[in-house]
Amino acid sequence: MSEQNQSIHGQWSSRLAFILAVSGSAVGLGNIWKFPYITGVNGGGAFVLVYLVCILAIGLPILMSEIMLGRLGHKNPIATMKILGKRESGTTKWSVIGILGVFTGSLILSYYSVVAGWAMNYVLLSVQGSLASVDSDSAGQLFGGMVSNPINVFFWHSLFMLLTVFIVAKGLISGIEKSIRILMPLLIFLLLVLLVFSVINGEALAALRFLFSFNLDALTGDGFLVALGHAFFTLSLGMGAVMAYGAYLPKNFSLSKTAGAIVFFDTAIALVAGIVIFSVVFANDLDPTQGPGLIFQTLPIAFSSLPLTSVVAFLFFILLVAAAWTSSISLIEPGVAWLIEDFGFSRKTSTYALGGLIWLLGLLSVFSFNHLADFTFWQGTWFDNFDFLTANLLLPFGGLLITVFAGYILSPSISEEEIDLGGKLGYRIWLFLSRYIAPAGIIIIFLDGLGVL
Ligand code: TRP
Repeated sequence: MSEQNQSIHGQWSSRLAFILAVSGSAVGLGNIWKFPYITGVNGGGAFVLVYLVCILAIGLPILMSEIMLGRLGHKNPIATMKILGKRESGTTKWSVIGILGVFTGSLILSYYSVVAGWAMNYVLLSVQGSLASVDSDSAGQLFGGMVSNPINVFFWHSLFMLLTVFIVAKGLISGIEKSIRILMPLLIFLLLVLLVFSVINGEALAALRFLFSFNLDALTGDGFLVALGHAFFTLSLGMGAVMAYGAYLPKNFSLSKTAGAIVFFDTAIALVAGIVIFSVVFANDLDPTQGPGLIFQTLPIAFSSLPLTSVVAFLFFILLVAAAWTSSISLIEPGVAWLIEDFGFSRKTSTYALGGLIWLLGLLSVFSFNHLADFTFWQGTWFDNFDFLTANLLLPFGGLLITVFAGYILSPSISEEEIDLGGKLGYRIWLFLSRYIAPAGIIIIFLDGLGVL
């Protein structure tokens, strides 16, 4: 392939910058909001074990493949897959990975923005002092009152979408590299403070027992599917987000070290968040299976017993919003890059048009907790359905196509050069996981989760 230097993409200034950006995409509501609540709903330990196995055996090799394909194609995911597909197998049909990804990312952002809006609302509540002293009852009322007010949720969802399109319209690299550099370390620091708190004040042992007692009987086929889906969701895999970022990665950076660092960060943050939240849950006799409201009803209780309650709450929710923000950028960027590079629209037009559509779609999730709360089908409300469809079905399906392409279609002489996993053995392991374990794992869990097995 001729080096396509006329690409409008820039390059990351360093490997650290790339790691920060991909971690910024990976670490988000998935780690702090979703992981604890789905772990609670699915019974704890066994779910966590399946999730960890999915991360290592399926997520990690696919993460490497996505970075590799992005770097090889050096374009938006649709164009990248078109170019690589044509070169490797004479067909442009593989671009379906990118097209599906734009669709999936947009669907995810539509409800992701609603939850990020809740977090923004909690920033305001902390400033107003409403989080200064809450107990389990008032925490529940606060959350219930918030989501049942449609105008309220509508407002915060709209504001979050505006924040997202604002930064994307300005252009990726200048927009995010700088802020992530400061926000990520701060978020990690605050989580560690909360961890210390939960060990001192909460039921940390009960939390550890809940998270790591591997009782497989507690897990249903549905639980396997949710664990697999979350491995994709939390690493931002299966829709081309990492592929889009990989397009900016210079050739001389180690792909496997980079992927390893990202997986480590992302998983550690989720587990720490889990320990913190379940310590509070068990210390206050809260219900671990309560669902999407879990962190909003537990963390304020934890903050209440800390000094400077409102300040800690304020900081935490600000950082959560920031984490959601750097993730949401990666959900819309592939679609925006596609509109720019393949249709010739300006970055501004592309961002506002796609962002507007996603905002509109998000209204179904805004109303899922009030006006449309009783309108349920398949998995539940619109919100539940968007989540299930994207995280548990579309992302793993996209991942399946990606790993099949990377493992079977891409010529091994190319992948061997890219996958620098410590010599021949490392490469063989990646190839084995990509060709057999990841596809088989996804297919088996799909069949099991959908009740076919
Ligand atoms: N990984 C993010 C989180 O855990 C969400 C996210 C951002 C995402 N970009 C993505 C999920 C792309 C799937 C695909 O919150």
